[in-house]
Amino acid sequence: MKKLFLTCAAILAACVAMAAECVIVPRPVSYEPLKGKFALSSKTVVYVADKSLVRPASMFCKYVAEEKGLQLNVAEGVAPSKGLILLSIDKNLAPEGYTLEITKKGVTIKGGSEKAVFYGLQSLRQVVFHAKGGKKVKVDCMKVEDRPHFGYRGGMLDVCRHIFTVEEVKKYIDILAMHKLNRFHWHLTEDQGWRIEIKKYPNLIKVGSMRKETAVYGTNPKNGRTHITGYDGKPHGGYFTQEQVRDIVRYATERYIEVIPEIDMPGHMVAALASYPELGCTKGPYEVRTKWGISKDVLCAGRESTFEFIEGVLDEVVALFPSKYIHIGGDECPKHRWKACPECQQRIKEEGLKDEHELQSYFMKRVEKYLAEKHGRSIIGWDEILEGGLSKTATVMSWRGTKGGIKAAKMGNDVIMTPNQFCYLDYANTSDRVKNGEPICGGRNGKRPLTLRKAYSFDPYDQLSESERKFIKGVQGNMWTEFVPNFDRVQQMILPRTAAIAEVGWTYGEKNYDDFARRMHLLRKLYDKCGFKYAPYFFNGIE
Ligand code: ACM
Ligand code: ZN
Repeated sequence: MKKLFLTCAAILAACVAMAAECVIVPRPVSYEPLKGKFALSSKTVVYVADKSLVRPASMFCKYVAEEKGLQLNVAEGVAPSKGLILLSIDKNLAPEGYTLEITKKGVTIKGGSEKAVFYGLQSLRQVVFHAKGGKKVKVDCMKVEDRPHFGYRGGMLDVCRHIFTVEEVKKYIDILAMHKLNRFHWHLTEDQGWRIEIKKYPNLIKVGSMRKETAVYGTNPKNGRTHITGYDGKPHGGYFTQEQVRDIVRYATERYIEVIPEIDMPGHMVAALASYPELGCTKGPYEVRTKWGISKDVLCAGRESTFEFIEGVLDEVVALFPSKYIHIGGDECPKHRWKACPECQQRIKEEGLKDEHELQSYFMKRVEKYLAEKHGRSIIGWDEILEGGLSKTATVMSWRGTKGGIKAAKMGNDVIMTPNQFCYLDYANTSDRVKNGEPICGGRNGKRPLTLRKAYSFDPYDQLSESERKFIKGVQGNMWTEFVPNFDRVQQMILPRTAAIAEVGWTYGEKNYDDFARRMHLLRKLYDKCGFKYAPYFFNGIE
């Protein structure tokens, strides 16, 4: 009899534990299921102890209305005695840390800041979404203590190779917010299109925002790589007005996301050269590039007028973006033109530089100094900024693997890890792109796949000592759009892999891919509810 009782108790306990497994992505630092359920209904009031919390509270109510069909209300000042979701700020918690406690009586979220409360609400949003019930939603009781490991958790979107609408960019921001990412790195300028209105230089949008056609790519049967099969003959372009930029920055800020603009220099500047040919060593003529890859034509580093141009652009950029960082690119700048340009060579001589790599370093350091002294901003650059000498204060974004990031951390520079093999979301989702029907893509057209499992496996501290780790500020997923012509495809490339990158950034420590995969199958339902598209492969058991 006693044995039977024990067996029943064990089964019951197992059922309770099973029902109350953690459903939150990214996984919280600490999760404890509690007994019982909280009944959420339209009578539940979200009570905010601080006026600043009305915004996240209202956002949460919007989510619950859309995703669960329940209209909750926000109240300040008077705390009703039951059916309550209570939000408050507790300065003892980490700035992005929060606690979430759900008991039969109600829900309490405390956060180290307004933003941290928002993260607590993002967790509650997922818990509520997965809970059963219509008019009365039965939410599992639990205790969560949570804080992110890395302060910088980003997503990059290239709007240059293909442009997207304001509404689409906002949807991208919604996706970042759902995963508790806090930086939107907006890649705004390229060889193939200049996408931000700069009033001082109107040709940037009159000329530079439009390419006359785009190369059509196919798979080369000889080596499986991409190759050009023709041109589409269709102009492609567009730009974001300053008003639209402000709107997007506001939208992101409301979701506690800082927007970091990237003005990529001195390479990847052909759209600007087409607009103002005197910016190039050969003075042109140039046209907005119609194929992908790297152009030999770059900004002339010898002429003073180049720096006047860059400063004029950056003056308007900093006025639009309140971010601490401005990304100034620095990647893939061939040195052919500088080698042949008398003015660039003159600069090398005058400044006592060793070679063209040092000239690039001179360029980046000069722009960094301008941004710091005139505008109080810091720079981020791609890992090429290590070549030819790195300033002490630049933040390095490591993209050609982790090598550059490791080197920079060892030198004591801040680093954001976005190595292509773990974080490039234009790479194939599966190990056999062709067999699985994945479209043409980056990463040698699928030869370097990035499965969800691989993205999840990334360790940003790999090969770094304890004392070097502090320079790793965070991680970021990069959405390059050469082979991503519309926003449905953007979503299918960023989801679900953005969730893995978010978990790498948020939950450092022991990894459990099976548990992550279990939670991803749940999160997929929320993607569906939100109308987010995603790659189907992982969900269909294909890697
Ligand atoms: C890069 O992928 N060129 C930063
Ligand atoms: Zn030059």
